[in-house]
Amino acid sequence: MGAAIPNRITVGIFGGSGYSGRELSRWLSRHPRARVEFSTGSAAPHIPHEDGLSRRVDVYFLCLPHVTSAAYVEKLRKAQPRSLIVDLSGDLRLRTEASYKRWYEHDHGAPALLAQAVFGLTEVFRADIPGAKLISNPGCYATSAMLPLLPLIKDGLVDSEDIIVDAKSGASGAGRSLREDLLFCEVEGNFSIYSQGRRHRHIGEIEETIERCTGVRPVLTFSPHLLPVERGILSAIYVRTPRSVDELRSALARYYEGAPFVRLVDSAPKLKDVNHTNLCLMSVHEGAPGRAIVVSALDNLVKGASGQAIQNMNVALGFDETEGLL
Ligand SMILES: NC(=O)c1ccc[n+]([C@@H]2O[C@H](COP(=O)([O-])OP(=O)(O)OC[C@H]3O[C@@H](n4cnc5c(N)ncnc54)[C@H](OP(=O)(O)O)[C@@H]3O)[C@@H](O)[C@H]2O)c1
Repeated sequence: MGAAIPNRITVGIFGGSGYSGRELSRWLSRHPRARVEFSTGSAAPHIPHEDGLSRRVDVYFLCLPHVTSAAYVEKLRKAQPRSLIVDLSGDLRLRTEASYKRWYEHDHGAPALLAQAVFGLTEVFRADIPGAKLISNPGCYATSAMLPLLPLIKDGLVDSEDIIVDAKSGASGAGRSLREDLLFCEVEGNFSIYSQGRRHRHIGEIEETIERCTGVRPVLTFSPHLLPVERGILSAIYVRTPRSVDELRSALARYYEGAPFVRLVDSAPKLKDVNHTNLCLMSVHEGAPGRAIVVSALDNLVKGASGQAIQNMNVALGFDETEGLL
């Protein structure tokens, strides 16, 4: 017999003053079973970050920068081994030290954790999540690319070595750190590409995760862009395929049948269709002969961060996957 499903749970948020932490607080305040016991950060100066380590709760969400996050995970795993930890940073998304070093350009501070975390792309790893004690929440861009690409690569429907992910994100994707390129006058009325080439860390996360699930390592050309809006990610994914648009659509519809937050739609989704929701909407369109365009849209702060984190908590603890998220 499995463990009893708790009726009420207590929650702590590290980094509750950041963009994803604030969003998480808002969603959790509407969750019927969760009570936020503490939230750390400059928005709650009476609880310094370290003080959260001595607070005992059922679930810890870490909305901290990478490196800092892994250090907190290590301490929490020792201090509160029975609690669930959901890490929103990139620290535990890659499987090996070598891979982490390649994409983050420094050594991992707590490499033993890499093999211990369940990867929380909920729709794909749902079977591994119930009962997990450590969940690594996927990246926002990575979620928007992996959800549409994974089923198509798994079924061998697209050329895995000829994939272009042309992705655009609102400025909240970069967090609230003070950077000149994120100042209002730089972002407003502007539009720019960044991290050109094989530099963006989410490339590693997408390629490695898809390989783990399908046995095929895709090779991506990934171009992130900064949109002059607050939130949302729209990815146009260009694939080479001998299959028709209908066949690609059917494969996606089959894979996500019954998934409450991933939906196939006829017209290309827009940011306003997904913002402030935990949805990922996707559509498929004809490209040049032998090519197709797959479009996906999600809110980077919800399905790309806090919403998916709550979805993972729900599945880990045996709650309905949609609790507090509709
Ligand atoms: N933004 C997104 O769309 C998004 C999506 C998916 C995943 N993520 C990941 O989620 C994490 C948080 O991202 P964010 O965008 O919410 O960041 P953010 O807006 O910059 O907020 C960062 C938070 O971490 C705290 N913090 C910073 N340095 C710290 C330190 N040395 N020790 C303890 N706390 C520290 C800050 O607290 P203070 O108030 O004290 O400064 C703040 O609460 C990152 O790892 C990011 O990669 C973000």
